[in-house]
Amino acid sequence: AIEPLRGWLRRHPRLFVITGAGCSTAVGIPDYRDENGDWKRPQPVTYQAFMGDAATRRRYWARSLLGWPVMARARPGTAHRALAQLEHAGRIELLLTQNVDGLHHAAGSRRTLDLHGRVDTVRCMHCEARSPRAILQAELLRRNPGWAQLQAAPAPDGDADLQGRDLSGFDVPSCTHCGGGPLKPDVVFFGENVPRERVAAAHAALARSDAVLVAGSSLMVYSGYRFVQAAVRQGLPVAAINQGRTRADELLALKLAMDVDQALQAVIDAL
Ligand code: OAD
Ligand code: ZN
Repeated sequence: AIEPLRGWLRRHPRLFVITGAGCSTAVGIPDYRDENGDWKRPQPVTYQAFMGDAATRRRYWARSLLGWPVMARARPGTAHRALAQLEHAGRIELLLTQNVDGLHHAAGSRRTLDLHGRVDTVRCMHCEARSPRAILQAELLRRNPGWAQLQAAPAPDGDADLQGRDLSGFDVPSCTHCGGGPLKPDVVFFGENVPRERVAAAHAALARSDAVLVAGSSLMVYSGYRFVQAAVRQGLPVAAINQGRTRADELLALKLAMDVDQALQAVIDAL
């Protein structure tokens, strides 16, 4: 079933790869949208709500405390490893990922750009100081004894279902560098823009590429979709490996509605 993709890859040696949540579902991090491209998760917190309201931040970090261990334990799967091999074979100009799980990097990919940031890093919204999420986890557990033994279902952004727990006493630490700034995961929230320099770096890499390969993304979010639009405007062909519908289906030169692990492993085997 991947024969057309093999031929396509032979014709286009230098790739701009766009990945999404479908690359990590097999390793236990669920995706956001169903096969039709419709949102299937609880309503995400917006940037405006997070910044404007301490109770929203309390709730966010309580959910994150529960969900973090699943994120922290996740290891790269077949798709991540295959894309790292494709890079080592000199075939990747840039791997642009919308995932915040860091698994491409963990698999050995280095020509990566984390379009939506990384959930393993925390940022102070006053002084911009960055710190490891693992340190915040230890501090959250220290301040909120009793939460350590709670189990939680995994979620792609490290959040989890609170099941109606009382949060009035939940204690969230603030920045230790400036003494009080609110902490936010270093990921792009709904209602927030992707940093301009990240978008510019991706466009520059696109201009050096022969073609675009999408793997495991519905492309429903404009921040990723715009690079497919730009590629088509520049005359670059776009192929996608995705089980569900994508927003760009009618722009694609090639669509493989199959499992990313299977397709990318087959690509590597044929290199
Ligand atoms: P989506 O959940 O929108 O899309 C994932 C796609 O992968 C779906 O179309 C699935 O059908 C498909 N899929 C799942 N498992 C697969 C598999 N094993 N093989 C092939 N296809 C599979 O995720 P993204 O497109 O990454 O934003 O979502 C983009 C952004 O929306 C995310 O980065 C997040 C969210 O809001 C932020 O966090 C800012
Ligand atoms: Zn600070």
